[in-house]
Amino acid sequence: MLPGTALDRLRERHDVLVWEGELPPSREALVGLVRDAEGLLALLTDRIDPELMDAAPKLRAVSNYAVGFDNIDVAGATARGIAIGNTPDALTDATAELTLALLMARARGIVEGDAFVRSGAWRTWSPTAFLGAGLTGATMAVIGPGRIGTAVADRARGLRMRVLVQGRQDSREHLRAVLAESDVVSLHCPLTPETALLIDGRTLAWMKPGAILINTSRGGLVDLDAVADALDAGRLGGAALDTMDPEPVPLGHRILSTPRVTVTPHIGSGTAAARAAMADAAVDNLLLALDGERMRFPVNT
Ligand code: DGY
Repeated sequence: MLPGTALDRLRERHDVLVWEGELPPSREALVGLVRDAEGLLALLTDRIDPELMDAAPKLRAVSNYAVGFDNIDVAGATARGIAIGNTPDALTDATAELTLALLMARARGIVEGDAFVRSGAWRTWSPTAFLGAGLTGATMAVIGPGRIGTAVADRARGLRMRVLVQGRQDSREHLRAVLAESDVVSLHCPLTPETALLIDGRTLAWMKPGAILINTSRGGLVDLDAVADALDAGRLGGAALDTMDPEPVPLGHRILSTPRVTVTPHIGSGTAAARAAMADAAVDNLLLALDGERMRFPVNT
C-alpha cells in the first residue's frame, strides 16, 4: 500500500488491484496480476522485463514508484509502445538528507557509540575514545551531479566541505584524480551498464587512504567484497551503505561483520512527505498515460 491518498485518485477512475503482501509478488503472481492490466504502478523490487510485458498484452503504461528505473527494460517497453514514468524531485531532499546523516554517522562512529553506551562498556570519558574524522575543510567527491548529487553537494558546501564533481561525460582519468583527492566519496548515479561496479578493487585503490565511501544510489554500483577487502586492509576509512547488491544483503555477508561499516535498509526516500509525494507523482503518471496523454515524469516518451 502506498502512503497518502494518491491511490484513491486512481480508484476513482479505474479498477485497481493492489498486491497486499509484505514481500514483493513472486514472478508467477506478478504475471497473473498484469495479465489484463492496462497500467502498472511498479515498485523497484518488481522486474519489468520483456517476458512480463509479453504476459500483459493490454499494458500501455508502467509508472515506477522510484526515481531509479533500472528494474525496467525501457528499450523493451518502448518497442512495445509502453510508456514508462518515474518519480523524480519528490525524494531529492530526503535522499540528500540521508546521505549527510550517513556521512556524519560514519565519520563520528555514532552507531558504534550508541552500541557502546548501551552495552555497559562505557566506563569513563577518555581523550582517545571514538576519535572520528572531521568534515569541515574536507573534500567530498560527488559522483553523479544529477538532482540528488547536486542537493548533496549544496549541503556539503554548507558544512564547509570542498566538493569535487564527476559528471557522466567526465573521463576515467578525471574520476581517478577526483577519487585520489577526496576524503569522502558519495555515489549518486543511476545503475546502468556503464556505472555497474563503478566502485571495485581498481577504483578503490585510486581512493585517498582513509577515505569514506557513501552509497545512497544503487547497490549495483559497488563491489561489496572489494569494499570489505579495502576496509580490512585499512585502506578505506569507512563505508556507509543505504543500498547494496543484493537487497536485502544476506545476514552472513562479510560486509556486515566488517568494522567501520554503517548500513541502512534502502531508506533514502524514506520520509512520510517524500513517499506521499512519490505516490502522487506515480499516480499522476498513470492517470495521464491511461488518458492517452504524456506522463508528468516520462522516461521514454
Ligand atoms: C528511488 O526512488 O530510486 C529510490 O531508490 C527509492 O525511493
